[in-house]
Amino acid sequence: MLARIEQLEADALKELSAAADADRLEAWRLAYLGPSGKVKAALAGLKDVPKEQKPAVGSRLNTAKGKIDEAFAARKAEIGAAPVVTEMMDVTEPGYVATSGLGRRHVITRVRDELAEVFARMGFEVAEGPELEDEAHNFIKLNIPPEHPARDPIDNFYVERSGGGARDGASARMMRSQTSTVQVRIMEEMVRRGGGKLQEPIKIVAPGRVYRPDSVDATHSFMFHQIEGLYVDRDVTMADLKSTLLNFARAYFGPDAEVRLRPSFFPFTEPSAEVDMKIRLRPEQPVRWMELGGCGMVDPAVFAACGIDSEEWTGFAFGFGIERLAMGKYGIPDIRLLFENDLRFLSQL
Ligand code: DAH
Repeated sequence: MLARIEQLEADALKELSAAADADRLEAWRLAYLGPSGKVKAALAGLKDVPKEQKPAVGSRLNTAKGKIDEAFAARKAEIGAAPVVTEMMDVTEPGYVATSGLGRRHVITRVRDELAEVFARMGFEVAEGPELEDEAHNFIKLNIPPEHPARDPIDNFYVERSGGGARDGASARMMRSQTSTVQVRIMEEMVRRGGGKLQEPIKIVAPGRVYRPDSVDATHSFMFHQIEGLYVDRDVTMADLKSTLLNFARAYFGPDAEVRLRPSFFPFTEPSAEVDMKIRLRPEQPVRWMELGGCGMVDPAVFAACGIDSEEWTGFAFGFGIERLAMGKYGIPDIRLLFENDLRFLSQL
């Protein structure tokens, strides 16, 4: 029995030093130290050893087991320190796409940018004005008189009375109800830059938010977006207005789009018209007329309010609703869908 233990110890240590990697070390461990390994078997064999030999054999077996355990721990530390390549990984493979999905721009933002881009190709620069405005820019300089129904406090978000507080004598402040305010601001700015006189043509579009206390339904919201256009030059005519609108319609909706102007009234243009566009939204759908907004030739009273000589300069202006364009273009039935920010809806666009 003692000789067999001797042999077991020698074999174990010899094979252990030959185990060169983690897999072979594990195979060795199972063969010797595992639940049905050789060391266990030897310990189990102890019960068959004659009683008087038991102390000697037991002690020899313990020494052997101690040595084997120790050698295994040392070998394991050696092998574990070396890098073990168990699986090849292709580091050039694309990573996983986040399960929450990629973000995208809101459809209103996209349509706004598309509109600005189409007009930019026709020479219009993008201009901006404040959303918190005053009556002077929202109404007075746009030739909208005090008794005009559009100025009813019920139809506007006023935030300050006229002549109130720290701004003595200033006009009442309000959230702008139309982007036509930006026309006035740009004309004033260009006159200021020209030293009190308009020195060069103006060609701008101004997209942005507007506010009206309408009750919310499928086609109304208390906040929505408009895009305003203004072109001031020498000898601008209604024909320029119509061809600009037609070029826009064809560039944005496709070559068979048409434009129709219906006579109308706006205080800041004379003559004024409503703008309709005949568009085919999808190949399988029939063409139809869609009402987009208003337009006209800048009223001399507006030029005068901004310090521009209407004998020298003429201009046209237009204003479209961006939601209406987006709803038409994408077949969206309810304006509320555009502001609820439900990803199930937004991710379809
Ligand atoms: N500001 C008008 C509105 O909100 C739209 C409009 C009509 C703008 C005629 C214009 C214009 O520039 O010429 O209903």
